[in-house]
Amino acid sequence: MKKPEIIQLPKIMDPRGNLSFFETGKHIPFEIKRTYWIYDVPGGEKRGGHAYKQTEEFVVALSGSFDVVLDNGIDKQTFSLNRSYYGLYIPNMLWRQMCNFSTNSLALIVASTDYDENDYIRNFDIFKGLNK
Ligand code: TYD
Repeated sequence: MKKPEIIQLPKIMDPRGNLSFFETGKHIPFEIKRTYWIYDVPGGEKRGGHAYKQTEEFVVALSGSFDVVLDNGIDKQTFSLNRSYYGLYIPNMLWRQMCNFSTNSLALIVASTDYDENDYIRNFDIFKGLNK
């Protein structure tokens, strides 16, 4: 069973400005098929609120901070992301919600699949039933 984990990324310190990066296989345990980002989140809003059947994701707070709440149907775990050199690996089949976005926060997400609405589980009761 794959587990969510915070992965520390390389941080190349430089007086001209710092630089971080990630590579498939080295820092992320899946091949990246898709990249998207979430921005301009109004105060108090939440994103997510679903699980994926197959998709694995890796989430970085490029700017600002937010929380990712992961629920396996029994236990909830909250990961606070607030540094651009930490990422959260999220395996498939976890209910995930993103909340507590700071002003001007920017979430970068890379995913293991192309976008496919059929990969989403958007009903928590159905998710719980499938996860038993
Ligand atoms: P959704 O994944 O439901 O947003 P979140 O979970 O972050 O709240 O996506 C919102 C909409 O954006 C959805 O109707 C489809 C579209 N979308 C794409 O077309 N491609 C993508 O890669 C993603 C992530 C979303």
